[in-house]
Amino acid sequence: MDFIKAATLDDFLNTRIKSVTILGRKVGIIKGPNSEFHAIEVGCKHQGADITRGQISGDVATCPRHGWKFNLVTGKCLNHNASKLKKYGLKIEGDVILVTSKPLPEEEEDDPLLHFFD
Ligand code: FES
Repeated sequence: MDFIKAATLDDFLNTRIKSVTILGRKVGIIKGPNSEFHAIEVGCKHQGADITRGQISGDVATCPRHGWKFNLVTGKCLNHNASKLKKYGLKIEGDVILVTSKPLPEEEEDDPLLHFFD
């Protein structure tokens, strides 16, 4: 799977979430509490609002439009039986954060080899 430069570690000195566009798709890069990084689609499964523009509390984002809540690590919707937000592979080379050009197939989402750090 192809990886594309999406951000640098310096982009997260004062924030823990950044929204980028990769081949026309909006992807959120999230820095976790232990400085681990995750990449996930940001279009709400209800009506497509950018969930990174809503309230972020811990690993949970609340959609700014109608309040649906999503776990930013797993992609699961916490209060509706909606489909999950798609995850992207992510790796770090030096201070560069690279993200897969396409969302991961669901069976690969939890493959630790696609979430490694240098
Ligand atoms: S668009 Fe996100 S809850 Fe409606």
